[in-house]
Amino acid sequence: MDTILTRSPAEAAALLRRGGIVAFPTETVFGLGANVFDKAAIARIFEAKLRPQDNPLIAHIYAETQIRELASEVTESAGKFIEAFFPGPLTLVLRKTDAVPPVVTAGLDTIGIRMPRSRLAREFLSACQTPVVAPSANISGRPSPTTWQTVHEDLNGRIDCILQSDAAEIGLESTVVDCTGDDPILLRQGAMSLEELRSVVPTTVVSQGSTETVRSPGMKHKHYSPRASVRIIDAQFEISNLRSAFIGINRPRGKVEIERLCKSVEEYAHSLFEFFRECDRRGIATIYCESVPEEGIGAALMDRLRRAANII
Ligand code: TXA
Ligand code: MG
Repeated sequence: MDTILTRSPAEAAALLRRGGIVAFPTETVFGLGANVFDKAAIARIFEAKLRPQDNPLIAHIYAETQIRELASEVTESAGKFIEAFFPGPLTLVLRKTDAVPPVVTAGLDTIGIRMPRSRLAREFLSACQTPVVAPSANISGRPSPTTWQTVHEDLNGRIDCILQSDAAEIGLESTVVDCTGDDPILLRQGAMSLEELRSVVPTTVVSQGSTETVRSPGMKHKHYSPRASVRIIDAQFEISNLRSAFIGINRPRGKVEIERLCKSVEEYAHSLFEFFRECDRRGIATIYCESVPEEGIGAALMDRLRRAANII
């Protein structure tokens, strides 16, 4: 299969409406989209990504009116989050309608819904004229793609189209929050911080271990992993390995083959997945990553680092 590269959201949307699977940019990472009601196209997403069947997909919308097609109930907390943070890097888990096919939600009775804020994503989603399910556009287990070139590296020949654009603005995935019950439960750390969520709904809690794996099946799978091994270090660490790389804010002692010094935690989060990819392209054996305080986007960054290092 030839994968079409285009900069036209209308062309990409036309392919999706005809049953295609289309990679498109969002402010978090690139997604691999299909029409939420098209079971055959959705099956092809799982196949193209080699994604485990038990991992549910997020539905992407551009207008609040589309929520009705997907969710049977918008709870009070969900209403507050929608008002405060849609469009943005936040996914709300709500009870699904019967119209949503079970393949979307891996058999769960809930569905994740997100309204991206990037301009091109919104143009694409509006031209699709249907909610679009989209996991990150990478081979499962690999770091999520933050550039169209990386989507191409993983999925060329396996998908119908890539909507090209600049690099994703944030570079880490959306925060996933279960809003089906009384108190919202943070299921996946992401680009929207717990502090921001609590500023709108103070009773938001963080999911703990085993509940998380049940409630957000994707979190139990291997994630965000480069082929190189990942080690989390602090500023005092001395690197002595050959074929090693470093990413962080403060240069460590010792010598590395590739280093990426970032000016802020935001820049670090933005650069991480692409740095992992670059290290793999260059045959790096060990990637040293500086730990950061777990506040703001630092919490999601540390979550991704621990998963990449196989600590959780
Ligand atoms: O930023 C993002 O969220 C990107 C862009 C493309 O929107 N998408 C993304 O999708 O990261 P994916 O499939 O790679 O990760 C979706 C996460 C998984 O951990 C999955 O288990 C969880 O969201 N999820 C989806 N639907 C869910 C549901 N109904 N209940 C609980 N967790 C759900
Ligand atoms: Mg993913």
